[in-house]
Amino acid sequence: MSASAGQKRRVVSGMRPTGQLHLGNYHGALVNWLGLQGRYECFFFVADWHALTTGYEDTATFKANTREVVIDWLGAGLDPNACTIFVQSRVPEHAELHLILSMVTPVSWLERVPTYKDQMAQLKDRDLSTYGFLGYPLLQSADILMYRPAYVPVGEDQVAHVEITREIARRFNNVCGREPDFAARVAGAAAKLGTDGAAQYLDLRRQYQEHGNTEALARARALIESGRKLTVEDRERLLGGLAGGGRAILPEPEVMLTKAPKVPGLDGRKMSKSYDNTIRLREDPASVEKKLKAMQTDPARVRRSDPGDPEKCPVWDLHKIYSSPETQAWVQAGCRSAGIGCLECKKPLVDAVLAELAPIRERAKVYEAEPARVAEILDSGCRRAREVARETMLEVRAAVGLDY
Ligand code: TRP
Ligand code: SF4
Repeated sequence: MSASAGQKRRVVSGMRPTGQLHLGNYHGALVNWLGLQGRYECFFFVADWHALTTGYEDTATFKANTREVVIDWLGAGLDPNACTIFVQSRVPEHAELHLILSMVTPVSWLERVPTYKDQMAQLKDRDLSTYGFLGYPLLQSADILMYRPAYVPVGEDQVAHVEITREIARRFNNVCGREPDFAARVAGAAAKLGTDGAAQYLDLRRQYQEHGNTEALARARALIESGRKLTVEDRERLLGGLAGGGRAILPEPEVMLTKAPKVPGLDGRKMSKSYDNTIRLREDPASVEKKLKAMQTDPARVRRSDPGDPEKCPVWDLHKIYSSPETQAWVQAGCRSAGIGCLECKKPLVDAVLAELAPIRERAKVYEAEPARVAEILDSGCRRAREVARETMLEVRAAVGLDY
């Protein structure tokens, strides 16, 4: 794996250390992460400082929970050789970047983040009128911008956080991003496109800057994209050069929206640890079966002879994730005609969930038995993440004039 992003674009995403993961976490995020490794240079981390923003009063479980999350990631198939797996607080540069970004972040931007007031209202039992909680989306911005990723794979609930990250990056670049010898550096980077490429870049830039030709802008971006010899910094300069402003020290990442199916919990509400309605990835098979058999069904279907409506049944939501079109058709017809019973209906699901979890449990077992291996993976992931973070911070410090 190479640090130069000439080859693979980067992605960054994090998860809070909530303890052992469940099917909701798996289908909501992890499956998507698995699909990214190999195709992107991936940075995946446990957001333990984020857990602290809401859970600062009881931190006794943090360390163990972090470990459990990582074991589940590895069990699910994240490959430590194909992606960088680390723990946020072990890369203290995140805190430094958070601090520096806080200098250019208007308080009103943070107060406007939708999750701020929502969570305050939801978690009434905690005192969240803290500085740390208000700054949580900014901490997330630092987590992301540190790795200068092209994309941030997140679910719908996190899109607003990536949006504010983009705004903060833009503001930082505008306020702090001007290099004295910017034009010369752009020319140097353009030269790496080859003689023809460099001429083309300058021409497209002129068409865009002088005539507002947005097609030229798109073509210039594609040209930069295809430049194999360019480093991350070169790309930023060339992109910054197009806009006519400073170099994008912290480029704006794009949201990569995770298509997450609705994973119902056993009681029909969203699967969530706080509702105690989950099936854990490492749950033992007998318990999985027992839980699914007891799972909430269409409440109108009291007796076996009562017809049901899958649309009102959380079990159907699971069929949508796990079952083939044939099985789904069988459920629809059988449920509505009372041709099948609910236990019968759940049988193929039990099989599918168990089949999905078996290899995860097997892989996780190896790591459960060898804590030293998990520690090694994290040591090396944290080291690798820090290397990248250190590079970014050199530039960020220089941009704010603190490069002693
Ligand atoms: N805030 C995210 C959550 O609660 C976790 C997170 C922290 C994250 N930093 C991130 C996600 C950076 C993506 C990128 O789920
Ligand atoms: Fe739900 Fe299946 Fe029972 Fe219908 S038959 S109510 S879909 S569990």
